[in-house]
Amino acid sequence: MGVEEIKKAAAREALSFVEDDMVVGLGTGSTTAHFIRLLGKKVMEEELEIYGIPTSHQSRLLAIESGIPIVSLEEVDAIDLAVDGADEVDPGLNLIKGRGAALTMEKIIEYRAGTFLVLVDESKLVERLGQKMPVPIEVIPAAWRAIAEELEVFNAEAELRMAVKKDGPVITDNGNFILDARFAMIEDPLDMEMELNSIPGVVENGIFADIADVVLVGTPEGVRRLER
Ligand code: A5P
Repeated sequence: MGVEEIKKAAAREALSFVEDDMVVGLGTGSTTAHFIRLLGKKVMEEELEIYGIPTSHQSRLLAIESGIPIVSLEEVDAIDLAVDGADEVDPGLNLIKGRGAALTMEKIIEYRAGTFLVLVDESKLVERLGQKMPVPIEVIPAAWRAIAEELEVFNAEAELRMAVKKDGPVITDNGNFILDARFAMIEDPLDMEMELNSIPGVVENGIFADIADVVLVGTPEGVRRLER
């Protein structure tokens, strides 16, 4: 079974969390893309009244293409469920997110959701955060250099993320830059998440401590369910 099939199996399992009349946060990335397409199919086949709240331009465009009616955060009183991928998951279900640079809107929506469901394949499971991936940090453009220097206090080496099909840095959906910070060690994810957000000019960072409720892990043998 290829990795895309494994991700799709986790996305299919996530459909069992969806009920009629729900407002569903739609995450960003390749795993959630499978979920959004499958959700669109389910909404049409079962004639469900579901509203999606996208976390990025990517998920908004995909939701429209998949036939999921979308609403904005300002229009809803509550978000029942949010579904998203992750770059790393530790044994306490703390996450690193933001490879797709959508971390700020993802965190706003997933923090508000009644249930935050994470979809990954087993390559994302780590013993401690920062083991494989840097922590993405969304910053106000004028402050990027000052923040990169400030991060040295935390023993982190930060790099400005560069765009691939555009000259210069990645510009987020909110018009900001992304610093990718490699830490020697993240001992306490919640503490580090708070510390990073206290640096002036930081908009949000990609540590999502203590907010995932359920993680569905796709493996060649089937989908495993981890709960806090
Ligand atoms: C987007 O900014 C990220 O947080 C993604 O949710 C995360 O990178 C997972 O993406 P994949 O499912 O493509 O690995």
